Amino acid sequence: MGSRIEIDRCVCYDVRFSDLKRALDERPRTNEEIRAEFGCMDCCGMCRPYIERMRETGETVFHQILIPQDA
Ligand code: FES
Repeated sequence: MGSRIEIDRCVCYDVRFSDLKRALDERPRTNEEIRAEFGCMDCCGMCRPYIERMRETGETVFHQILIPQDA
C-alpha cells in the first residue's frame, strides 16, 4: 500500500530522462539520433512513450505505465 511507481530512465541503457532532456534542450535530436547516440529505444523500446511524453510536456519522472503505440 502506498507504493508508487517511479519511471525516470531508459532501463536498458541506464539513461535518465532528465539527462536526455538536458541534451535535447542543448541540441534537439530525432528519435533516430537519440538511438544512435544514447541507445534509448533501441532495445526493448519501452522507453519510447516516455521520451515522447517528455518531448511534449517536459516531464522527466513518470508515475504511470505508458504503453508503446505501434504506428
Ligand atoms: S527501456 Fe529504453 S530500450 Fe529498453
